[in-house]
Amino acid sequence: MGQVVAGDTRLEVIFDADRIAKRVHELAREIAAAGLDDMLVVSILKGSVIFMADLLRAMHEAGLAPEVEFLSLSSYGAGTESAGSIAILRDVESDVTGRSVLLVDDILESGRTLAFAKDLLAARGAREVRTCVLLQKPGKLAAELEVDFVGFQCPDRFVVGYGMDMAHSFRQLPFVGVVIGD
Ligand code: IMP
Ligand code: MG
Repeated sequence: MGQVVAGDTRLEVIFDADRIAKRVHELAREIAAAGLDDMLVVSILKGSVIFMADLLRAMHEAGLAPEVEFLSLSSYGAGTESAGSIAILRDVESDVTGRSVLLVDDILESGRTLAFAKDLLAARGAREVRTCVLLQKPGKLAAELEVDFVGFQCPDRFVVGYGMDMAHSFRQLPFVGVVIGD
């Protein structure tokens, strides 16, 4: 994969925009095939924002018409190590009772973030809670969680772009990459 310069930073591209777009469309078809009724898609902010926007439009092409909600959780602060505790910064507005919920996040590492969100919405009476992530880091899962839809297995490196940040930067990049220097 090539290298790209963004501002003052050099990055190695791990998943380019075309590859991501193809996989997002496949994921939407996989989700459509799962046959969830009355679906509410819940985007976990902020990291999933670009993935969510692309996935929603691909879901439309796959014949789905989900409702959309946002849940803002913090687990990392500004660092690159999981803090282990999770706070709700902004809650969903809809009543999830009886709904089929699809939780969408950028990347699964320990699984604590998604497990927390899944337990939260299940406890509020969601009929079922499925999970979808663009990336999964292999061998890192600590929480008890089965992920239903995974875009790609991710190298065990700190990745940025396509919504994902490092200390609040790089979310705007249209690809997923690794910072390799200034
Ligand atoms: P988990 O709770 O350990 O599964 O961590 C998942 C959350 O940590 C994701 O929603 C991301 O916000 C963040 N995260 C984990 N790995 C990375 C990474 O490589 N780059 C950017 N954010 C990451
Ligand atoms: Mg996140």
